[in-house]
Amino acid sequence: MNSDAGFRYIGGRLHCNDVSADEIAERFGTPCYLYSAGLLRERYCRIRDAFARWDGLVCFSVKSLSNLATLRLLAQWGSGFDVVSGGELYRVLEAGGDPSKTVFAGVGKTAAEIEYALRTGVRMLNVESGEELRAIDRLARGLGRRATVAIRVNPDIDPETHEKTTTGKKENKFGVSIAGSRRLAAEAASLSGVELRGLHVHLGSPIYSPEPYVHALEKISRLCTELRAGGCRMETVNIGGGYCISYTGEDVPGPEDYAASLQVLLEKLDCQVIIEPGRYLAGPSGLLLVRVLYRKESEDGKIFVVCDGGMNDLLRPSLYGAFHRVWPAHSPGGMPRVMRAEDRHYSGFRTELVDVVGPVCESGDFFAKDRPLPPVKGGALLAIFDAGAYGFTMSSNYNSRPRPPEVVVDSSEVFLARRRETYEDLLRAERQGP
Ligand SMILES: Cc1ncc(COP(=O)(O)O)c(C=O)c1O
Repeated sequence: MNSDAGFRYIGGRLHCNDVSADEIAERFGTPCYLYSAGLLRERYCRIRDAFARWDGLVCFSVKSLSNLATLRLLAQWGSGFDVVSGGELYRVLEAGGDPSKTVFAGVGKTAAEIEYALRTGVRMLNVESGEELRAIDRLARGLGRRATVAIRVNPDIDPETHEKTTTGKKENKFGVSIAGSRRLAAEAASLSGVELRGLHVHLGSPIYSPEPYVHALEKISRLCTELRAGGCRMETVNIGGGYCISYTGEDVPGPEDYAASLQVLLEKLDCQVIIEPGRYLAGPSGLLLVRVLYRKESEDGKIFVVCDGGMNDLLRPSLYGAFHRVWPAHSPGGMPRVMRAEDRHYSGFRTELVDVVGPVCESGDFFAKDRPLPPVKGGALLAIFDAGAYGFTMSSNYNSRPRPPEVVVDSSEVFLARRRETYEDLLRAERQGP
């Protein structure tokens, strides 16, 4: 394993593995997503090993980071995939992902997506309603197949995270209640086009304690035992994603902590365990590099650091008020280990309080607010850390801004996973007809 993998300051300059951020910015321009393949691999191995004893299958959550190069690497390392659309499935297959290790979730799968999944032989479809179950049954029979399905259970548990990323409470659109799951299982048994083989739950993201998983698994285990007693062959339990990362640099639970808390329940279950980490793998493995365009000071002394990247490149701060560490790529003392939203200075560093903002025409276009940052001028390079998950995949062309490139550093090899979009790319789908 490459212990130099990841992001660190060497001689006061930020590096990805042993390649400097300056070199990346020079070659590919800014804004630019930069990923460490070595760090991604370390994190993949760590979470895989934590759940290995229950025949654990890691199904990487494609929505978090979906460029082909990354999916290809994960497929080579043996990862499976969690997809939520035909487009994500297409990406997985194009990257050489194994359909028999791919699970398909989502409340609104279309008939075309269900047929596509069945034709390609995905491992299972996670069913989220009675109507969907009947649609899968009909479509599978039409293709002369039986679809393997799991019921996505909504256990009504609060994972204590952002309301927009809470998915396992009864008011959320996802999954089916425990009572509803019993009814769905009974119905599945009467349908010749489906085979019920598992249960699925995904509580939300990020979840900073193993407790909600334990509560969910207690409920799922009881249901699983009941369904087995009724003659159903339960082979897998999918406990979803949501494993947290530290956006501040403070200590947070790791995969081993989640696995240890779930150990007794998982052992009793005697099922294959599927986990669907996205953020845990991709988040810390990527950052967004931006260049400062202007330092702008208002009459009352408020300082704006205006960058060339904006909310169209990284939406999380605007969408969720999400906190990301931001720090100059040139910093003689490196960076503070911990940076928290409430910090107004960091000991050992000379800083000023600034808003780090983008060029998009919205006041919600920011990366950091009231944040201590070493004084920077136009031309400085800034890194927005832990942006690998839900960074590029949530990017858009808002303000007709071409999306940034995605660059991967694998040991000391640098390659372009996705080139920067051009103005012509912006118009491609609009240029039709004669
Ligand atoms: C069904 C499902 N599984 C897994 C995930 C991945 O979550 P995370 O990236 O927090 O691990 C999500 C994210 O929303 C999801 O909807």
